[in-house]
Amino acid sequence: MANETLTVTDNRTGQSYEIPVTDGTIRATDLRNIKTSEDDFGLMTYDPAFMNTAACRSAITYIDGDKGILRYRGYPIEQVAEQASFLEVAYLLTEGELPTKDQLAKFENDIKYHTYVHTNVLKFLEGFRYDAHPMGMLLGTVGALSTFYPDAKNIQDPANRYLQRIRLLAKMPTIAAFIFRHSRGLPFVFPDNSLDYIGNYVNMAFSIGGEHEPNPVLQKALQILLILHADHEQNCSTSAVRAVGSSGVDPFSAVSAGVAALYGPLHGGANEAVLLMLDEIGDKKNIPAFIESVKGGKGGRLMGFGHRVYKSYDPRAKLIKQVADDVFAQTGLNPKLEIALELERIALEDEYFIKRKLYPNVDFYSGLIYQAMGFPTEYFTVLFALGRLPGWLAQWEEMLMDKEQKIARPRQIYTGYDERSFVGMAKRK
Ligand code: CMC
Repeated sequence: MANETLTVTDNRTGQSYEIPVTDGTIRATDLRNIKTSEDDFGLMTYDPAFMNTAACRSAITYIDGDKGILRYRGYPIEQVAEQASFLEVAYLLTEGELPTKDQLAKFENDIKYHTYVHTNVLKFLEGFRYDAHPMGMLLGTVGALSTFYPDAKNIQDPANRYLQRIRLLAKMPTIAAFIFRHSRGLPFVFPDNSLDYIGNYVNMAFSIGGEHEPNPVLQKALQILLILHADHEQNCSTSAVRAVGSSGVDPFSAVSAGVAALYGPLHGGANEAVLLMLDEIGDKKNIPAFIESVKGGKGGRLMGFGHRVYKSYDPRAKLIKQVADDVFAQTGLNPKLEIALELERIALEDEYFIKRKLYPNVDFYSGLIYQAMGFPTEYFTVLFALGRLPGWLAQWEEMLMDKEQKIARPRQIYTGYDERSFVGMAKRK
C-alpha cells in the first residue's frame, strides 16, 4: 500500500506539507499548519452546505448514492422493509443490533408504558389555531415535552438517555394523532395499549365514536413507509439534531430542532410540496409546459426529484412504488397517480434531468399513498417525522458517545467592513 498521505505545496511560500489521509479524508485542522507567517491563522476549508465534508464517523446507516444502496446497520433496506416491524427497526438503529425476541418484547413494553402524555399537553394543543400547520404544532409540542421531563437534562447517564428515547418513541405517535384530531376539530382519542405501535397510532387518528375497523394492508403499508424513512445518515434534520444536541441540551429540544429542519420543502416538506405541485399541474396535458417552466427556472423545482446523495434511482422510491400498488388495490387509484407517473416518464427521458442525474426520491410517491390513506396534504411531513425519529435518536446517542465530537461551531470567511467609527444618529444620512 502506497504511503497514505497527501503532499501539498503552498505556492505562496514554496513550502511543502505532508498530511495524513485516513478513510479517504484529510483532517481539516491539519491544514491549519499551512501558514504564510507566524501570526497567520492557518489554512481553512470553505464548504458551504457541507458538499464535501464528513462531520462525523457513524456506524448507523450506509448509503452508496451512485449505486442506489441504503443499509441500516449493514442490513439492506429492501430486506428490512419487508421483514421487520417498525419497532424492530427502531431497536436496530438505536441499540445497534437486531433484538432477540425477549429484547423486542421488553422494548415494546417499555414504549407502551409511556404512550400517554401529560394532560396539560392537551391544553396547549387546543391553544393552536384550527388551521395551524401540523409541523408547526409538532415541533412546538415535542420541544415543550422538555418542560415536563426536566430529568432529560441528565444526558450523561445511559439509563436516563434510554428512558428519554423510549418516552419520545412512545409519545410522538400520541402527539401526532392529537395534532391530526385537532386539525379536524375531533376529540382526542387516548392510547390503547392493547394495540401494536402502528395500530395504536391509526386508532388514535381515525377512531370515531370509539370505533375503528383496522385495515391490515394499510397498516402494513404505513409501517413500511415509516421504516423507509427511519434513517438517512447525515441529512439536514439529522445534522440539526446532532448540532443542537452537541450543545448538551436535552433530547426533546434537539429532536424538535430536527422536526423544524424536516418541515422545509427541500427536505421532509417535499412530500407535501409534491401534492401541491400535482394539484397545480391538474392534468396530464399540462405536464410538458410544466417541465419546460422548471427547466427554464420559472416553475420552481420538480418536487420529489433529485437528491444530494443519490445520483441514481432512490432505492426507497422503488420500494414505495410497490407499496403504492398494495394501497391503491385497497383504496382505489389516486387520480393524481396518472399525472405523477407521466411526469416521471417525461422527466426521466429529458436531457435536463438526465444530465443532472435527477431521479424520483422517496417523497415523489409517498404523498399519494398518504392521501389515499386519508391523511390531509399538510399532515404528510408529520408521518415522515414519526418515521425518522429512531434515526434522530440513534444519531444523537452516537454523537454524545463520540469522543471526537464537541459543540458544533463552523468557521466563517468574514466579508464585512473593516473597523470603522460609530456614527451618531444626528450625523447619519
Ligand atoms: N427540479 C429541477 N432541477 C433540479 C432539482 C429539481 N427537483 N433538483 C436539483 N435540480 C438542479 C439544480 O437546479 C441544479 O442545476 P444547475 O446545475 O443547472 O444549477 C442541479 O440540479 C443540482 O442541484 P443542487 O440544488 O445543487 O442539488 P442539491 O444537492 O443541493 O439539492 C435537493 C438536493 C434534494 C435539495 C434538490 O434536488 C431539490 O430541491 N429537490 C426537490 C425537493 C425534494 O424533492 N426534496 C426531497 C429530498 S428526499 C427526502 C429527504 O430526505 O428530505
